[in-house]
Amino acid sequence: MKIAVMVSGGGTNLQAIIDGINNGTITGTEIVLVYSNNPGAYALERAKRAGIPCVCRSPKEFPNRDDFNRELLEILKKADPDLIVLAGCLVVIPKEVVEFFSGRIINIHPSLIPSFCGTGYYGLKVHEKVLERGARVSGATVHFVDEGTDTGPIILQKPVMVRDDDTPETLQKRIMEQAEWKIMPMAINLIANGKVRIENGKVVIDDYDGSVLGAL
Ligand code: GRF
Repeated sequence: MKIAVMVSGGGTNLQAIIDGINNGTITGTEIVLVYSNNPGAYALERAKRAGIPCVCRSPKEFPNRDDFNRELLEILKKADPDLIVLAGCLVVIPKEVVEFFSGRIINIHPSLIPSFCGTGYYGLKVHEKVLERGARVSGATVHFVDEGTDTGPIILQKPVMVRDDDTPETLQKRIMEQAEWKIMPMAINLIANGKVRIENGKVVIDDYDGSVLGAL
């Protein structure tokens, strides 16, 4: 399976995917492109170090958003991935891209959807809201991308307990370590091995046993 990974920041999820491919947690998968909208993204360094082709385009380089979106679709079509992975990607994926790659785009969100998600819930803001609300549990979700924000079918989720002394930063770090870096590679591996399908708007995973997530 050929995957394109879209990033905007540190790229720790990208690193988890690269490591997963190298250590055999993810089989039959090759990263054919890393795309960043942010020239300062450390994710680009990680990609270069791993010898993965990178493209970086900031919307600021374009006279308008439509031109940026059009080129994004062209770049993705050219890379011809079987799956697009949004790994900390802050670009709103245009409708044309969602339509062209329908059912072939996944995203990682740092909460248990449908809690703490949707417009305005990104990065540290998600964890700030969790702490403001006094939630006792948060976590991460890997889901398919549809035309809404964080509304697509859920593939995998993993809970993480909130601590009384958490700050948004400590909660973010623990959710990454305990949930994101585990369920993202696992979801990609399941898709690469043909185990994931969408039925009636929900994800069905062949031979799925939820207890595997507890062991992660
Ligand atoms: C992660 O928390 C991810 O869930 C969110 O953005 C963050 C990206 O981190 N969508 P990184 O760039 O993978 O380190």
